[in-house]
Amino acid sequence: MGTEVSRQDIAAAFRGAGAQPGDLLLFHSSLKSMGHVDGGAQTVIDGALDAVAPGGTVAVPTLWYNGKPLERRKEDFDLKTSPAWNGLVAETMRQDPRAVRSDHFTHSVSAIGPFAAELASGHGSGRPFPSPWSETAFAEVSPWSKLYQFNALYAFIGCGMKSCTMKHWIESRFVSGLLDRLPETERGRCRKLLAYERQKGPWCYFDGRAMYLRLAAQGLIRTVRLGDTLLFAFRTRPMTDAALRELERDPENWFHPLILEWRKMVLDLSHK
Ligand SMILES: CC(C)(COP(=O)(O)OP(=O)(O)OC[C@H]1O[C@@H](n2cnc3c(N)ncnc32)[C@H](O)[C@@H]1OP(=O)(O)O)[C@@H](O)C(=O)NCCC(=O)NCCS
Repeated sequence: MGTEVSRQDIAAAFRGAGAQPGDLLLFHSSLKSMGHVDGGAQTVIDGALDAVAPGGTVAVPTLWYNGKPLERRKEDFDLKTSPAWNGLVAETMRQDPRAVRSDHFTHSVSAIGPFAAELASGHGSGRPFPSPWSETAFAEVSPWSKLYQFNALYAFIGCGMKSCTMKHWIESRFVSGLLDRLPETERGRCRKLLAYERQKGPWCYFDGRAMYLRLAAQGLIRTVRLGDTLLFAFRTRPMTDAALRELERDPENWFHPLILEWRKMVLDLSHK
């Protein structure tokens, strides 16, 4: 059996990583990485709430996938019952009677606290943004965009940047930044050359671990010990701004050759 971890330990670790009273905090987690958490997944949620009390809001991604084509997934998704696939803490949060879940069939977020309803509202409305899953997951109005707008604290317990959903928000902004340079007539055609609603195609995935190291070197990440594992966190605004700068400054370092070809095509078209 691993180290005993209490609600107080969890709150203290989030505080050590930068959480403040009144904060908006989102985290990804591995429950067993910590050791033995007294009270299990619920304790992790309550410890996170303590870290941002009074007046703070805690959110976790509650992602869903049933392996079916997009249209069937939209139809089958049930806001109240479709389980989160991304870990026991997420699934426990989803079922917490205090939680509000955003209504999106792939990339929903569940949150508790005074800002929870606002965070969850309107997921998928406003301007759509490209992603391999749907054009609404990371839309202008989505919890992911609000995490950026409100400069949330974004944390990981015992898991790394591979789990970072915000990474896909960054990718969506990278692609839309390029598409925005094109005349309207070319935009749709170029967009459809990339991965689209789970249709196969290249996508501008980048190496999260390498980006973590780059951002850590810039002092943007705080890491603390929590039981047998590490908790690290960053603020969404400086982190995503810095990551986008890195991608734009040095695309050859980050992207698959097919994405580099696509980017060149878009830039050439934009100069015509
Ligand atoms: C995949 C992942 C969830 C696996 O982590 P995990 O700790 O093995 O699994 P969970 O967090 O679901 O917790 C369940 C585990 O905790 C254990 N557990 C149960 N009660 C516990 C307690 N009180 N204390 C500690 N561990 C406990 C369970 O036995 C189970 O382990 P087992 O499968 O070996 O039996 C994690 O590595 C990860 O990647 N998390 C982030 C996922 C994410 O958000 N992805 C986003 C993609 S864009």
